[in-house]
Amino acid sequence: MVKTFSAAILTLAVTLMAQAQPSSAHFDAVAKVFRLDGGGVSYVFGVNPKGELQQLYWGGRLGASDAFPQAAPLPEWASFDSSYSNTPQEFAGWGAGLFVEPALKVTFADGNRDLVLHYQGYSEAPNGFDVELKDILRPIAVTLHYAIDPQSGILARSATIVNQGAEPVTVEQAAAAAWALPPAHYTLNYLTGRWAGEWTLNQETVRPGERVIESRRGSTGHQANPWFAIQAGEPDEDHGEVWFGALAWSGSWRISVEQDQLDAVRVTGGFNPFDFGYVLHPGQSLETPVFYGGYAANGLGGASRLLHRYELEHILPRTAATAGQILPKPRPVIYNSWEATEFKVNEAGQMALAEKAAALGIDRFVMDDGWFGQRKDDHAGLGDWYVNPEKFPHGLKPLIDKVHSLGMDFGLWVEPEMVNPDSDLYRKHPDWVLHFPERAESQQRNQLVLNLARPDVRAYVFGFLDKLLNENNIAFLKWDYNRNWTEPGWMQLAPAEQKKVYVEFTHNLYGILAELRRRHPKVEIESCSGGGGRVDLGILRYTDEVWPSDNTDPFDRLTQQDGFSYAYTPQIMMAWVTDSPHWLNHRTTSLTYRMLSSMQGSLGIGANIANWTPEEAATAKRLIAAYHQVQPTIAQGDLYRLISPRGGSEFSATQTVRSDKSQSVVFAFIHSTQEGRLFPTLRLKGLDPAAQYALTPIEGKARAGTPAAASGAWWMNHGLEMDEGFRGDFQSAAFRLDRK
Ligand code: GLA
Repeated sequence: MVKTFSAAILTLAVTLMAQAQPSSAHFDAVAKVFRLDGGGVSYVFGVNPKGELQQLYWGGRLGASDAFPQAAPLPEWASFDSSYSNTPQEFAGWGAGLFVEPALKVTFADGNRDLVLHYQGYSEAPNGFDVELKDILRPIAVTLHYAIDPQSGILARSATIVNQGAEPVTVEQAAAAAWALPPAHYTLNYLTGRWAGEWTLNQETVRPGERVIESRRGSTGHQANPWFAIQAGEPDEDHGEVWFGALAWSGSWRISVEQDQLDAVRVTGGFNPFDFGYVLHPGQSLETPVFYGGYAANGLGGASRLLHRYELEHILPRTAATAGQILPKPRPVIYNSWEATEFKVNEAGQMALAEKAAALGIDRFVMDDGWFGQRKDDHAGLGDWYVNPEKFPHGLKPLIDKVHSLGMDFGLWVEPEMVNPDSDLYRKHPDWVLHFPERAESQQRNQLVLNLARPDVRAYVFGFLDKLLNENNIAFLKWDYNRNWTEPGWMQLAPAEQKKVYVEFTHNLYGILAELRRRHPKVEIESCSGGGGRVDLGILRYTDEVWPSDNTDPFDRLTQQDGFSYAYTPQIMMAWVTDSPHWLNHRTTSLTYRMLSSMQGSLGIGANIANWTPEEAATAKRLIAAYHQVQPTIAQGDLYRLISPRGGSEFSATQTVRSDKSQSVVFAFIHSTQEGRLFPTLRLKGLDPAAQYALTPIEGKARAGTPAAASGAWWMNHGLEMDEGFRGDFQSAAFRLDRK
């Protein structure tokens, strides 16, 4: 319910009475200022005398008694830039001379396109507020949702747009939130990539104009990831202010980072307005995705540690086994058949691999593509989700039973949103795909995209997955999505309605995932899209892990994993050890190097282990056992990127510290030693300076004379030195430190 000003005064009185308690959300009804406090962060906005909702402050936590006067709109700049455009609004409608990115742009039924949103009132919400805005004349209302996490200070912001009038309104652009920063020198960090080359960290000075990070592909995409971090000054892992954000949306999205005409910076993110149009009929509403935003005073490392913890504690789903627990379960160490057998899966071959996998200490055996329909290669079968009778004459049960008898659980690959034209499903329902009639249906990997926005397609997809999980003891689905959209038509709807496919497709995807998890609470799911094409905080509410890249080259992975870690926790970062020389780069590396590269995330094996020598199997078995012992620290601890592998670096190193500081794990990698250079001393971070930590090599040696145990202060100030023999090409070492 939205409060009037008089009701707000009553709230103020109640708030004042309760002021002895630390409060995370406070409204000053006299100055009309909203303040949210959480962790080390304060976020403040207010209603200016014109009625605009104006951002006032986002940064380090302010004193409890500090107060803001009422917001004052910025003046106009000569006759060219209006006050409306200059004032950093929380959610500006496009109208009244707004030249920066609008949060909302609409066309009314009569062609009027002027929208000016003013404050109406607010209501309290868990850890925040719902703030109501309304157009100055027309019956269109927006509720802005704010919630701050008391621990991390990360804000969750989104908007609900409601048509309260009697005529339809078309939403042409809708952001989840706009964030503002005052004029200063900033560095923008963002992630880009392509298939097999995801997670490139870009760092560039914010300049006048817009840097647009987006996907027009219908899904999150490999090309850019919906995350940003803006650092005051130059990039720094340990120092300086960082404002960061991540958009929880797996459809086409856009984040624009804009330095406006008065040098202020605004970040606006939400649905991608390209080819967008959502008709709101009388009484209908549109919910935007959530745009999460955070602040850290201690550099990019501080920012990613806050985000990792938030993802672990608040975004990732729980299963029946972890319901109510603060942290999700560390990922089982998996074996995956893809690189070993590709489409050539069958009962005997998979059973043989399962035996080998179990002997290595693997927890979960995953059968990848090829088990269903008439799937011999990528030309046929997608859409026909029955077990292929030639490959598995007795169904999946004998293989699943075998996997269980070996002490592992069983996972299966699916690609639910796709269809091959060579399939029974397409032959029966050619109209189920995204397409424009009479136009070509562009195939990619010989497949088309089902229009999941259609209720009948949604029902079909949910139905076969539910049946698969009912009929088979499956612990895990690898949910793949191997192409992007072309010809995104939804021809069953009236022309004006068709573009809502961008919203409804993704809503139905989330709906299917949510319902599957509800009905099968033990099942875990991985989000894969030809590697890292669908990784975002929207899908991560329903999936336990992601496949970051089809590129499993262990050297490339170091840089990819580094980039990934700016936005996402290592817990979800699946990393397989595959065969050498690598199929992509033809690079030869040792098994130890491949193992240690993958151990930086959630470890898996994807090699053809049927061909491994006894020595290779023994190495993998030893390192899997060592990994199991320290996995919670690596996957769920606080990550410090000690030496970056980016920019052709000769070395790289990471360190993770368990949140109770009882354990730390260090990884060190050499790309290629030059001029005999020794590995730099690693000054460790995040330990308890007063506690004693014992050093144990997982792989490799510390320099002769390194103490077996020393204080946290020693490891952080003096540092950890590598053995002098630690040189060469593609070398690796790993250590654990345990508090005594
Ligand atoms: C995608 C995935 C791979 C594998 C293949 C199977 O490329 O990213 O890991 O599952 O599909 O076709």
